[in-house]
Order: sequence, then C-alpha cells, then structure tokens
Amino acid sequence: MADEAEKEKHEDPEGTLNRRQFFVRVGLGSLAVAGAGTAVFAYQFLSPNVLYEPSPTVNAGKPESYPPDSVTLDPATGIFVVRETQGFYALSAVCTHLGCLTAWKPELGTIACPCHGSKFKPDGTKIAGPAPRPLPWLRMWLSDDGDLMVDRSSPIAARQFVRI
Ligand code: FES
Repeated sequence: MADEAEKEKHEDPEGTLNRRQFFVRVGLGSLAVAGAGTAVFAYQFLSPNVLYEPSPTVNAGKPESYPPDSVTLDPATGIFVVRETQGFYALSAVCTHLGCLTAWKPELGTIACPCHGSKFKPDGTKIAGPAPRPLPWLRMWLSDDGDLMVDRSSPIAARQFVRI
C-alpha cells in the first residue's frame, strides 16, 4: 500500500487527481448525497403526521361582562355569545353556506354574512340567503370560576340556555 501511494506520488508530483481517484471521489460523493436524502425521507416518514389545532374550548369570560339583550361576536374564536332574558347561549359565527365569518348588525337586529348575503336571527334561525342551515348552537356551561365556557366542537339542540 505504501509503495502504491509512493508510486502515485512519484508519478504525479503536483498532487493532482488521477482518473481512478477522481471516479472514487465522485462515487463516494454520490453515495453521501443518496444517504442524506434517504435519511431525510426516513425522518419525515417516521415523524407523526399530526395537525396541531387550537383547543375547541373557549373561555368567554364573566357573564356580567355581557350587557342584557346583547349579541357579542368574538372574531378570534368565531362564536357569538348571546345574552337574553332567558339566559346565555353561544352560536357559531361561521356561515353554514361556505364558511364566511358572519357579523352582528344591531341596526337590523340580524346576523349577516358578508359573502353571499345570508341573514340569521339572533337565535341562529335562517331568514334569507343561500345558507342551507341555521347557525348552530354550541355547548356552553359555567366553569367553577364563574366563567362562561364554550365548546366549539359540540353543537347542541337550540334553546338550551345557561341560566345564571
Ligand atoms: S358564505 Fe355566507 S352566504 Fe355564502
């Protein structure tokens, strides 16, 4: 081996690559690239394919922060908290047509969708427009700390009020 290296050095005193050395290095480089690619794909394949979403449970705050006979939109969570004489309830603010965020129009006393004109009563009943269903009521309860809690993933039958 030492003789071979000495021979190569003797034949090529400037240290340039001969043909064999060049192809050996190209081959090793190709193997390294293929190995790195395989490692990346193996890591992606073995990683859990999980979509991290925010919790469906929302703390809507203290009941006394809602004025009597009010409809309050929380755009961040997409829910309406409605307070009327019979109690509190929560509605999804996501239009049942194509999913636009609806808005409360106090001057008209309706919930309106800006996208295609659907209109709803404050209890979610559809008045007009292409929406196929009313806005769903969402499960609401009072926490141990006295906060209104809403589960956005749990639609319930209408007219189930939280009475304080
Ligand atoms: S998305 Fe609301 S009416 Fe179309």
